[in-house]
Amino acid sequence: MTNLNLYGELARRNIEMTDRERLAVDAASGGAMTARQRMELLFDEGTFQEIDRFVTHRCTDFGMGKKQVPGDAVISGSGMINGRLVHAYAQDFKVMGGSFSEENTKKICKVLDKAMQLGTPFIGLNDSGGSRIQEGVYGLAGVAELFLKNTLASGLIPQISAIMGHCAGGASYSPALTDFIVMVEGQSHMFVTGPEVIRAVTHEEVSMEELGGASTHHQLSGVSHLLAADDKECIVLIRELLDYIPSNNLEESPSRKCFDDPRRREPLLNNFIPADSRTSYDVKALVRAVVDDGSFFEVQSGYAANLVIGFARLNGKSVGIVANQPAHLAGALDTNASRKGARFVRFCDAFNIPLVTLVDVPGFLPGKEQELDGIIRDGAKLLYAYCEATVPKISLITRKAYGGAYCVMSSKHIRGDYNFAYPGAEIAVMGPEAAVNIIYRRELAKQQDDTLRLQKLEEYRQRFANPYVAASRGYIDEIIMPEDTRWKLIMALSRLKTKMIKNPPKKHGNMPL
Ligand code: HXC
Repeated sequence: MTNLNLYGELARRNIEMTDRERLAVDAASGGAMTARQRMELLFDEGTFQEIDRFVTHRCTDFGMGKKQVPGDAVISGSGMINGRLVHAYAQDFKVMGGSFSEENTKKICKVLDKAMQLGTPFIGLNDSGGSRIQEGVYGLAGVAELFLKNTLASGLIPQISAIMGHCAGGASYSPALTDFIVMVEGQSHMFVTGPEVIRAVTHEEVSMEELGGASTHHQLSGVSHLLAADDKECIVLIRELLDYIPSNNLEESPSRKCFDDPRRREPLLNNFIPADSRTSYDVKALVRAVVDDGSFFEVQSGYAANLVIGFARLNGKSVGIVANQPAHLAGALDTNASRKGARFVRFCDAFNIPLVTLVDVPGFLPGKEQELDGIIRDGAKLLYAYCEATVPKISLITRKAYGGAYCVMSSKHIRGDYNFAYPGAEIAVMGPEAAVNIIYRRELAKQQDDTLRLQKLEEYRQRFANPYVAASRGYIDEIIMPEDTRWKLIMALSRLKTKMIKNPPKKHGNMPL
């Protein structure tokens, strides 16, 4: 049979098998879902429209001429997700390990081009052994073109990558260039060089799970934003995430009807923040108490837990939440938290999602390790992201706001639009203990007892451990009762609906990367 005939025969068989039959066959084989099942589940029922189903590769080396499969290991097209048009592709590991060929990357680039032209989100369901080895540089060329398109699409349309199997080699840079990565526990792996190459080069023994498993990337490297138990949950998470974000950078996120009273008061919040500033609490409980229906879609929950980020709704409108977490490292900002926050703030800013920042921060995390890790550079990332953001920015100081971290966390000085504080907020250069030890070092050294130190501590607390000094200068717009938080945030958001500020025109800034 000639290649052409083989192509026709396989194509016919492929088309003749209905999706329903295919799903039944695949489901019966057990394990992870097939690429087609994943696409069917991703889109609203019956809306998936496939393109380029007959594309095949053009490689004839290494006997590849006989390995022609219509579609060439990638299913691509568009469909609706919650009624909105979305473009997507899914790699089929069962065909040549889902590897990227010159031709199938053209298919992916074609749908990405369409997504950019039409202003729709773009989703990649990855399950691949990387660049197709038999194709040599042709395969590399294809993947490199995809990198370029991912980069050009960044900030224009939201891009989400699911790693549902392997994502090996340089190909992992395509997901890394997208906005969010979802991984499936016990099933997905992502690495630039695999365990065998590592063994050969560095003689290090490392398992695939340890190197690039979902937990590794969710908790240690921070590469993965969301963790799913299985394929189904992975797709549900993508659909849920999309609901908080707009289709492109010119649109607003979809609004949802709000059944939660915008004026709902939460009297329990009046006693929620512990009076002793050294006692921790879970800021996520505060977030849930305030947002619509207690529903908070957290992102990167396993990484840098001292900063909580995620999406929620206030009166039906999507907001990005950034909150120091006193329950972890006392909420101090370290290198990981700074990078995590910076990327999230930039995403929200690129896609018109207002930022609500909950501040309870003792400062940047002190220590040699942090300094050598580059807390100066990474802290500057978060600062830069907040400074350049032009979306509505609302902050609420719930307790501590000390030093540089006060400035960074959406303060008035870096264009915060509404800056609220609870009556117990403490806004100062540093905590009372540290401040008194520095200012009165000489006097305290001469003392036999603690009387002077305690007196100076009280003086400092009286002066700065409250929000009134900042409020007297207008750095805090309003001191609010905790029970009113929800309504105050909603009112501020509604006033900022028409906010329109622009940064000076330039090619691009030079973020401290
Ligand atoms: C061609 C590939 C392939 C690839 C897998 N296959 N990866 N074919 N190119 N990159 C094929 C296998 O030959 C096999 O074909 C089938 O897919 C299933 O693969 P297995 O190895 O049997 O599966 P498994 O044991 O599950 O292992 C999966 C794997 C392994 C860990 C992903 O296949 C692997 O290590 N692949 C290479 C990964 C890698 O190093 N990729 C980097 C390529 S370079 P048969 O016919 O036997 O079923 C790269 C650079 C891109 O990506 C840079 C862009 C700038």
